[in-house]
Amino acid sequence: MSFLSATLSRVKPSPTIAVTNKARELKAAGRDVIGLGAGEPDFDTPQSIKDAAVRAIAEGKTKYTAVDGIPELKQAICEKFKRDNDLDYTPAQVTVNSGGKQTLYNALTATLNPGDEVIIPAPYWVSYPDMVLLAGGTPVAVEASLETNFKLTPEQLEAAITDKTKWFIFNSPSNPTGAGYSRSELKALTDVLLRHPHVWVMTDDMYEHLAYDGFEFATPAQVEPALYDRTLTCNGVSKAYAMTGWRIGYAAGPEPLIAAMRKVQSQSTSNPCSVSQYAALEALTGPQDFLAANNEIFVRRRNLVVSMLSEIDGLTCPVPEGAFYVYPSIAGLIGKTTPAGTKIVDDESFATALLEEADVAVVFGAAFGLSPNFRVSYATSDEALKEACTRIQRFCASLR
Ligand SMILES: Cc1ncc(COP(=O)(O)O)c(C=O)c1O
Repeated sequence: MSFLSATLSRVKPSPTIAVTNKARELKAAGRDVIGLGAGEPDFDTPQSIKDAAVRAIAEGKTKYTAVDGIPELKQAICEKFKRDNDLDYTPAQVTVNSGGKQTLYNALTATLNPGDEVIIPAPYWVSYPDMVLLAGGTPVAVEASLETNFKLTPEQLEAAITDKTKWFIFNSPSNPTGAGYSRSELKALTDVLLRHPHVWVMTDDMYEHLAYDGFEFATPAQVEPALYDRTLTCNGVSKAYAMTGWRIGYAAGPEPLIAAMRKVQSQSTSNPCSVSQYAALEALTGPQDFLAANNEIFVRRRNLVVSMLSEIDGLTCPVPEGAFYVYPSIAGLIGKTTPAGTKIVDDESFATALLEEADVAVVFGAAFGLSPNFRVSYATSDEALKEACTRIQRFCASLR
């Protein structure tokens, strides 16, 4: 019998972290690898935010805080939800956590019983199904298709709901596809949910501010106010404010759920880092102009990557509305063989050969629950992206 828990044995380590580590290892061994695996902006945290953290340290704000966030930050989060999403929340409805990851983890741990199902549109962010498993629930992945630009249809959602469904996890713009649901696409999904009052919505709005070409972000409780009482609206500062290392995520929802999440956090990590909370306070209340400036850079990179990958025979690359990912299909390359003699049988063998034979690290689609695709993160310099896409073009052209 294993010393480890049966629950843990069902959980996979994060494949995105594995790819990043593998690329790092090869680089350390002297290979000129370009990593397109990382899910974080290459920008530095804005100076005003760093200054706020330094001030917090100088002022001795280095002790335990309230378990799920300092009052000033909770107030700033309420104002953010009003300003950006037209949602009214009180500080008692807000929780602050060590990264968006902990927000979701707390919510799932606080609510799932064995047998409870959680609907997760695929392709999905790698952690959703494994977090559901860790919390004792059953993930139910529903595959969206390339034809709908990786967006779930209302019919698919309707068909996936059972008596056991507890949560529907929604993520727009999405990791790994960058797909963003328009207000009307989202409304079609919330209409389905209205018919099933036992299903709650966990919306992961982490990429809210990373939206391009005039795409208008919308979130479920805003589009359908009747869902407000059963929606947990999750967000965080990691991606938009280039603050991945600071570990601050947050959410707002019904008070009893927030209290239950606080209980989980009080017996696990306690408060998120005090200094990071003051930095997040500055992020949410300080100047926001760098968001638009960063988006200009991201949209240029997205266009560069989509146009270079679209030139490749056998590869299909939809144009995403947001985030910093593209998710091309390699359906047209399956069955071919690389110059070193590797047969491309699926997206995993494609990504492995691309790394070994062309020095480009990407994450294979099976990790996100939809094949045959791969994820490119374009949160890296234009030069690196150009070189990486040139290598991918050459690699694909060399397949026989
Ligand atoms: C969709 C999505 N949600 C949540 C997170 C977690 O963010 P954090 O780093 O704040 O835990 C990520 C990070 O990759 C993400 O892509």
